[in-house]
Amino acid sequence: MCAKQVTKKPGEQVGTTGHSWDGIEELNNPLPRWWVWVFYATIVWGIGYTVAYPAWPLISGATPGVLGASTRADVAAEIERFDAANADIKAQLVAAPLASIPSDQALMAFAEPAGGAVFKTYCAQCHGSGAAGVEGKGYPSLLDDDWLWGGTIEDIHLTITHGIRNTTDADARYSEMPKFGADGLLDDAQIGAVVEHVLAISGQEHDAALATEGATLFADNCAACHGDAGTGDRTQGAPNLTDAIWLYGGSREKVKESVAYARFGVMPAWAGRLTEDEIRAVAAYVHSRGGGE
Ligand code: HEC
Ligand code: HEC
Repeated sequence: MCAKQVTKKPGEQVGTTGHSWDGIEELNNPLPRWWVWVFYATIVWGIGYTVAYPAWPLISGATPGVLGASTRADVAAEIERFDAANADIKAQLVAAPLASIPSDQALMAFAEPAGGAVFKTYCAQCHGSGAAGVEGKGYPSLLDDDWLWGGTIEDIHLTITHGIRNTTDADARYSEMPKFGADGLLDDAQIGAVVEHVLAISGQEHDAALATEGATLFADNCAACHGDAGTGDRTQGAPNLTDAIWLYGGSREKVKESVAYARFGVMPAWAGRLTEDEIRAVAAYVHSRGGGE
């Protein structure tokens, strides 16, 4: 509002508040009518609101208000509505043969976003929000076609349901690489040689003479799990050592650490924590990320 110069009607008297600063006095003009009415209106509104809606804090909770409004109940009702709306498709997802899910457009239209939400809540802490894993920390990328335990939807479903090397699920996927150094199965020189062989088969710079010696050691000590050519074995979760994809790192130092102390990657089981439709949805989601077989 622009300030208006108000000319007093002649003879009108306005008292002062009695305040005076350096001779400047404060006039005691009444408040504008409209302002006073708005002020009363807010008081009436405020009283009405506290009667109608939850308002005053009590020891536990608050006064409920006569309208019984509750945003918590609204959310619960909304969740119930969604659950009811999705009950059909969830039942179909659980009933469908696993292998048929990836090519079923109607099921995937539900499973991808639902599985994505499950993934962001329960899996992203370890596998990364984009499922790219954490290189060097033992959390595999789920985006590539390099699978430890298999990349069909059945394999992925089994891995998620029972987990890996956990102690809580009797059906967890299990295997254990021996600690070649810590348990004295190979001496330092032998470990050095077999590490050169691993560097050789993964196409890295290596000592050729040591690597030849390491090849024999590899055949005797490692091939049973990692395969003669070092390409891995999914029935034992033994990684392919010939690609450039490493769980724990492919440098001479990291490979040596893997051989000397072994690795023991653990993933929790999700059966019992997630419902079967959630496990199937997230399995379908992972399968659809690019590496699914
Ligand atoms: C506490 C960390 C952790 C959480 C949480 C976790 N994972 Fe894992 N996951 C791992 C580790 C570690 C491995 C690799 C285990 C190994 O070395 O064999 C793995 C492996 C996998 C594999 C096998 C990959 C392959 O190459 O065969 C799949 C599939 C998988 N996780 C999916 C999931 C899904 C889906 C979730 C969420 C429901 C999840 N994970 C939650 C740690 C985790
Ligand atoms: C009993 C089976 C078994 C034997 C024998 C075995 N490994 Fe392993 N190895 C594994 C498994 C399983 C893993 C993955 C561990 C994990 O996921 O945490 C692994 C992991 C590794 C890794 C880490 C790979 C990466 O991506 O970071 C290297 C390197 C390795 N093994 C080398 C060897 C060498 C060299 C030998 C022989 C001296 C050997 N392994 C013997 C089962 C075995």
